[in-house]
Amino acid sequence: MFSLEKIVRPNILALKPYRSARDEFKGTATAYLDANENPFGTLNRYPDPLQKQLKNKLSQIKGIVTENIFVGNGSDEAIDLCFRIFCEPGKEKALTFTPTYGMYKVSADINNVDLTEVPLTADFQIDVKDALPLLKDENLKLVFLCSPNNPTGNILTDVEVILQNFSGIVVVDEAYIDFSETTSLSEKLVQYPNLIVLQTLSKAWGLAAARVGLAFASGEIISLFNKVKPPYNISKLNNEAALSVLENQEKIEQQKAILLAERATLIDDLSQLPITKKIYPTDANFVLVEVTDADTIYNALVERGIILRNRNTIVPGCLRITIGTPEENTLLITTLKSLQL
Ligand SMILES: Cc1ncc(COP(=O)(O)O)c(C=O)c1O
Repeated sequence: MFSLEKIVRPNILALKPYRSARDEFKGTATAYLDANENPFGTLNRYPDPLQKQLKNKLSQIKGIVTENIFVGNGSDEAIDLCFRIFCEPGKEKALTFTPTYGMYKVSADINNVDLTEVPLTADFQIDVKDALPLLKDENLKLVFLCSPNNPTGNILTDVEVILQNFSGIVVVDEAYIDFSETTSLSEKLVQYPNLIVLQTLSKAWGLAAARVGLAFASGEIISLFNKVKPPYNISKLNNEAALSVLENQEKIEQQKAILLAERATLIDDLSQLPITKKIYPTDANFVLVEVTDADTIYNALVERGIILRNRNTIVPGCLRITIGTPEENTLLITTLKSLQL
């Protein structure tokens, strides 16, 4: 049985959060003399600590009530908060399946939490039979699942098996879900009180520079995030940038359609090159490709001003290619064709 109180670090349960000036007064005043701000200027006031307007807009788009939404300084902030809220440093553990997004390991190391890294199968799925016994470890508090997975691009098919068989927190990182036809697990928050779904405005929404990440979870878990986060974690500028892209959903849909068509063209073009050994199926805005000599090809492209992500050390022989503009993708293919390898 899942019990949130048993999963949260005792110091976090007991924590009295910082109450900012703007937490204490709600409404509109004629003189704001409470927060030691400079009264002149346009960015002179602290922003809304709980981003209510942004959450209302997100709620409309995602179909999730605002009490179940956290907005972070990138989803990287939410990843770090998970360790800080749920794992006692030097004692409790987390688990993920590799190859996957590197920040789970970095964040675990920063928080002095042991991260067990279980290899995915040859087709980058969870080996459920091997994984289930590991979930019985009573010091294991967090499992990170990335779906679609970075850098492999595929959806993980057994996320719900993990959710059903683990009494700790399961974080499902859906940074790339907007490029997939698979529906978000956020639809199942009521069914799974131990679920945290991460999404971001950095990928399909085109807002990587603004640093706006999202977490969807039960109201109790979201309250813990709000308690531990820095009071004003989203700047007014970033909040406004987020509102503006969310108001322009149609434009984002058009860009997504271009990227998905480009993804199909790029895969087709790559499959005809002699350097290509294998193209992995993808549900994201990138594709993992096994090539004849990853390091040489990567370096030759760098010399010509084209930067891919060399994943040779974590998936042997593989390069990860982000889908760019039609011009960038064509340039990549013509350059690859011209290389004398
Ligand atoms: C799987 C995954 N999660 C999270 C992130 C980080 O997202 P954000 O920009 O919201 O911090 C990335 C960025 O590459 C990612 O690949």
